[in-house]
Amino acid sequence: MSFYDLREYMKACEDAGEMITIDQEVDWNLEAGAISRRICEVGAPMAHMTNIRGVDYGASILGSPMSKGWQSDFARIAIGLGLDPSSDYEVLMNEFMQRMAHPIRPLQVTEGPCKQNILTGKDINLFKLPAPYLHEGDGGRYIDTFGVTATKDPDSDWVNWGVYRHMIHNKATMGGIVNPHQHIGMIYYQRYEARDKPMPYAIFFGGCPTTAMIGSMSPPAGVSEAEVAGGLRREPLHLVKCETNDLLVPATAEIVIEGHVRPYERWDEGPFGEATGYRASPRMPRPVFRVDCITHRDNPIMPISCAGTDLDECEILYGVFSNTSAAKRELEAAGLPVINAYSPPGLKFALLIVAVEKGHMGIADRVVSVIRGTKLGVRFQYIMVVENDVEATNLTEALHAAMTRTHPTRGLQIFGLAPAHPLVPFLDLHDKMHARGAAITFDATSPHESGANGSAQTRTSFRGAFPEALQNQILESWESGYGLPTSPGRFG
Ligand SMILES: Cc1cc2nc3c(=O)[nH]c(=O)nc-3n(C[C@H](O)[C@H](O)[C@H](O)COP(=O)(O)O)c2cc1C
Repeated sequence: MSFYDLREYMKACEDAGEMITIDQEVDWNLEAGAISRRICEVGAPMAHMTNIRGVDYGASILGSPMSKGWQSDFARIAIGLGLDPSSDYEVLMNEFMQRMAHPIRPLQVTEGPCKQNILTGKDINLFKLPAPYLHEGDGGRYIDTFGVTATKDPDSDWVNWGVYRHMIHNKATMGGIVNPHQHIGMIYYQRYEARDKPMPYAIFFGGCPTTAMIGSMSPPAGVSEAEVAGGLRREPLHLVKCETNDLLVPATAEIVIEGHVRPYERWDEGPFGEATGYRASPRMPRPVFRVDCITHRDNPIMPISCAGTDLDECEILYGVFSNTSAAKRELEAAGLPVINAYSPPGLKFALLIVAVEKGHMGIADRVVSVIRGTKLGVRFQYIMVVENDVEATNLTEALHAAMTRTHPTRGLQIFGLAPAHPLVPFLDLHDKMHARGAAITFDATSPHESGANGSAQTRTSFRGAFPEALQNQILESWESGYGLPTSPGRFG
């Protein structure tokens, strides 16, 4: 099943017990943020807050649209892909990988619901939209926490989509963090600012949920994310041209903000409660997003993500699914014997666990060299390489391997200088400004010389220490024969 717009996705979530509606008045000042944050932490249904104090246009807020789910951690991701909400991580990851490998070109249409209201000139007032003040201590009201920003490379057909935060400065300007390692940063700093040209942009909210999914993920530079979002949807997106620039946005978007970013213009933005679980990047001068036009549907719905310590949209989409799929893609492309890769939820995309085939000498170094040499290099401060007797998706097994197989001096490789994401909490200001950090590899592969035929390194677990036929027999009889209960699923 593919969704026409955010509203159809909301209906499917409501039917599955993954959305509730709050009709009582909710304050944009901290209350909407606090509700959304707690949803992420306890794994509650997302909340459609229909009565937000002081907003105009009959607008409402959708809190935590793809955070930790109610039935399972990834229930709303599964629904967004048209799958059963109980689908587990492996099923979802395979769907992401397969569908992303089959992009579908969008169709350009001439009109759509996102054009129901068109605001230009003095009618532009960002404060009339539901822009929450999310966490105590944030530098301002964040109008964009789950919108998709479209920008175009002026030298090719490439249009990038990415989810990047934006804070309101005044009625018609916003500020955002434009990281140089992100595609928007490459396009803005290298293709527009370096040539002293303004960069057109369009930020859209809503539309088919696969658009926000792909905006949070990172296909390689040059790949059309509109096509990949179509692939995820398994049907073409319908895109419509903006009013004031040539960018295309989903015709069913709830709200579209069009504008431009001037070269070298910087105003103070932040701080913001970020997805690392801290307010780690300081208030500082950042690019200014000037607004030329706002278009919106009648009674527009603003999806918001209240980032923080536990399973918000950034952690799930960017941390778990984007980082893991990109790591697998890069490692497979390099021809390494990779079985699986996993960035465990809850650890703020700091750790990547890679499971490789047993018996390849020096494999941990090769894995780490590949990852650190790509755009992914800034993401993982910790990379743990385990062998295929360990399930990469089982954090307890991976930690057991690291604590028992990683030699404290020979197995730990410390990189005193490594590329880093500027939001990494332990970096000092100087490091943040230069995106320079440090990293560690845990080589939890078995040393070749250990034990006769590696027997000293065989895990004495149910899967490691018993014949496969016996394991299968026991699993079959577990409930029906022995009457033992089945333990709850890892993500249940
Ligand atoms: C809710 C949410 C908020 C995000 N906020 C930011 C942000 O403010 N800045 C940023 O660089 N990346 C942010 N990300 C991560 C990017 O969306 C992600 O890295 C994406 O791949 C960027 O697209 P790109 O690879 O085309 O640059 C966020 C992701 C999510 C899901």
